[in-house]
Amino acid sequence: MIIVSGSASTDLSSQLSKELDAPLAITELKRFPDGEGYVRIHDDLAGQEVVIVQNSYPDPNLVELLLLQDAVMEYKPARVITVVPYFGYARQDKKFNQGEPISARALTRHMTRFTTELITIDLHETSILEWSDSPARNISGMPAIARALKEYAPDFILSPDKGAVDLATIVADHLGCGWDYLEKTRLDGETVVMKAKKVDVAGKKVAIVDDIIATGGTIIRATEQLRDQGATYVMAACTHGLFTGGAIERLNPVLDGLFSTDTLMNSTSKVSVAVELADALQQKN
Ligand code: R5P
Repeated sequence: MIIVSGSASTDLSSQLSKELDAPLAITELKRFPDGEGYVRIHDDLAGQEVVIVQNSYPDPNLVELLLLQDAVMEYKPARVITVVPYFGYARQDKKFNQGEPISARALTRHMTRFTTELITIDLHETSILEWSDSPARNISGMPAIARALKEYAPDFILSPDKGAVDLATIVADHLGCGWDYLEKTRLDGETVVMKAKKVDVAGKKVAIVDDIIATGGTIIRATEQLRDQGATYVMAACTHGLFTGGAIERLNPVLDGLFSTDTLMNSTSKVSVAVELADALQQKN
């Protein structure tokens, strides 16, 4: 097995290479003066099992992923597994108005035409994998989050909405602590409101877990509810730290702790999902 890292996923690819004891292919990834991408893979991949690791976000990284797939296929490998740690456009999984695309479907189809298999991590809506042209599976980064949370010893796990309950229960099971969820309504891309709901957090150390933190609005509203109900410590952890428009600066003053995994590289990427990914790759589909 050999790993081809895209420029958006170099940290995770290095960790994965160590976990699997598999080499990283030597690649050249650069941009032409007009902004178009250039990729070149120097290793001979003929007959090999190749794992490409690259986010489909932001848009230039999606193009780089398609170029990497094409470059890999030129070598006639035995298998190509495309790992998309953070799948851009996954949240646009429906047509809300006439004339719109189903963006998640468009990306899934294009990213799976020239690959043997697709692996995603904590995909916002896993049903979009049904649009894949190749076998596709989603794995969870929550065991990695649970490992990192041990150091903080939380005694309660909170899901900020019903959608992340499955994630919160994985973490709570790993840590052996209680959990609950809040009820969130999203008014628009930047605004969320939380329905008042009693949760058993008085005097507790709470960790909020979610798949994505984007604007930070969800975590800020959830933190307010937890503090109002007597939580003594509130931190947040997510798989994908998207952190749009200064979210880290907004979150740091209201939280006691914050971290994300290395699916997106930023200053909060404290824990790697390489262990979970290596397990998935070793299991095969
Ligand atoms: C949505 O349901 C997701 O699970 C996250 O809760 C959401 O993407 C977070 O967005 P924001 O940080 O902008 O509130």
